[in-house]
Amino acid sequence: MQCNNLVSVADLEREDIDELFALTAEMKESSKRGVTDLCLAGKTLGMIFEKSSMRTRVSFEVAMTQMGGHAIYLTKHDINLGERESIKDVSKVLSRFIDCVAIRTYDHKTITALADNSSVPVINALSDYTHPCQALTDLYTIKEKIGSLDNVKLAYVGDGNNVARSLAFLCAKLKVSCAVASPENYELSAEFLDELENYVKGKDSYIKQIRDPREAVKDADIIYTDTWISMGEEAEAETRRKDFNGFQVNSELISYAKNDVFVMHCLPAHRGEEITDGVIDGEHSIVYDQAENRLHVQKALLKLLISR
Ligand code: CP
Ligand code: NVA
Repeated sequence: MQCNNLVSVADLEREDIDELFALTAEMKESSKRGVTDLCLAGKTLGMIFEKSSMRTRVSFEVAMTQMGGHAIYLTKHDINLGERESIKDVSKVLSRFIDCVAIRTYDHKTITALADNSSVPVINALSDYTHPCQALTDLYTIKEKIGSLDNVKLAYVGDGNNVARSLAFLCAKLKVSCAVASPENYELSAEFLDELENYVKGKDSYIKQIRDPREAVKDADIIYTDTWISMGEEAEAETRRKDFNGFQVNSELISYAKNDVFVMHCLPAHRGEEITDGVIDGEHSIVYDQAENRLHVQKALLKLLISR
């Protein structure tokens, strides 16, 4: 892997993604056969979490355990990043103790500042701006389910948020077509879409922002959604629930899609809001395979970043 950090999808070259996906498949297969690979014995991952997490925290910690290493979980309360001491000092001192840092925080600049001052790899475990580990897992899962990413069409229905941004960015890098259907004021920004356009210009694939969820899902192989109310947006919950009316992934919306469409969600899901029980528990849903793959993709990512 050429990059030192995973702060954003922008850090990854096509070759890095191919290498990561190949190693993920290999490690997943070995792990299913019960083969142990203690490639990170003696290594430590520091995990700074300023927001709640279940999947990301557990999958990173289990990943380190399975590879013979160790993970330390640090909450906002433990280190009080930027308040008790500067991000620069935290980063420089952590670099003397540990082998890699994963951080989940609000402001994306906190992660870039941490990475700028770190001599060990820094992984973005979610910021308000992006969630690259999720996007890598999502595209890996699609490749695993469909067999290839060629000519795949993804429809994202909902908020143009952190998950949507990294997903659309990775789709653009991998030439997977992506239509994002969002209500007014919740779209991906025009500047961001312009940046992504550079990757798909002149290619058969597209990245586009549209309004109508039915139009988005019409030819899609994948329908993806995420919460309408991300962490930190709780005060807007009531307004958002009204604004997202009509953007629920339900059986009626699925009826406009292909018969063999897959439904994905990064989880946690708000059943009855952005997705119904019937869909998340139904025959199209691959959400739990998707969640499991967080572990396999992140094991490969940690191995590539730490054991160079
Ligand atoms: N999808 C995801 O990142 O889940 P957690 O917030 O539980 O980590
Ligand atoms: N968009 C959600 C993703 C959670 C994994 C949030 O930021 O809360």
